[in-house]
Amino acid sequence: MEETGALGVSPVRIKAAAASASWAKPLGPAPMELRKLVAGNWKMHGLASDIDEIRGIAAASRQYAGVDVALCLPAILIERAVRAVPGFPIGAQDVHQAEFGAHTGSVSARMLHDAGASLTIVGHSERREAQRESDPQVRAKAEAALSCDLGVILCVGESEEVRAAGRAVQTVCSQLEASLPGHDVARLAIAYEPIWAIGTGKVPTPGEIGEMHAALRGCLRRAFGDGGARIRILYGGSVKASNAAEIFSVGDVDGALVGGASLKAADFIPIVAAAAAPVT
Ligand code: 13P
Repeated sequence: MEETGALGVSPVRIKAAAASASWAKPLGPAPMELRKLVAGNWKMHGLASDIDEIRGIAAASRQYAGVDVALCLPAILIERAVRAVPGFPIGAQDVHQAEFGAHTGSVSARMLHDAGASLTIVGHSERREAQRESDPQVRAKAEAALSCDLGVILCVGESEEVRAAGRAVQTVCSQLEASLPGHDVARLAIAYEPIWAIGTGKVPTPGEIGEMHAALRGCLRRAFGDGGARIRILYGGSVKASNAAEIFSVGDVDGALVGGASLKAADFIPIVAAAAAPVT
């Protein structure tokens, strides 16, 4: 029987090197039971002195073989982290859409791959806001990363005003449709991160998360047919050990993108453990 990759596509579309990474482990038997992915986004945190913490996270994650775990680090720390934790997926937080050229301060997908990264975040709201990144730009970044064999976590999410106005689902679905790469989605995951939940301790209700993830699943199915059912949809925004199990019990929540609570193994590993626990 043909084996499928972690993101649900035949390995003919996944290069051999990538297929051996834990990012690309096979799926469980039931098509809807996607392996959970718990990714840490370190944002602008992390020095050489934190490499031991990364080692601790990588070592503790090995206990949870049923969950994919990754850390998205500042670009300058990637290569050192890759050397420190061989085989553990290390990612970036952004990528430039161009292959090379006069883009002062930017890093290309090929450079990330060359440094040993196996994935990258694109379209995080902190970049959409501070760097004014548009949906077409986010799509171009995702396409550039996928074409260099990087996994992609594409972020979408609404502001507090949009949610208060009752337009959250419609706004986030439009954002997703306009940001989705047009091809090669084998290594794509989506992260729904309500802007008002990031770093605030506020979290949507399970009903609100479920409604949004179901709507996003619908968008993905419309865009990619059956392949859309195999793309993981992560939740992000104030995920902690104390709320992770409840969030993971919601339908179509296939993992988490974790900010503050990913900086220390003591905070992060219980979230990985919650993702590994069977839903009761
Ligand atoms: P927090 O988990 O700190 O709320 O951050 C979420 C986030 O932005 C991850 O990308």
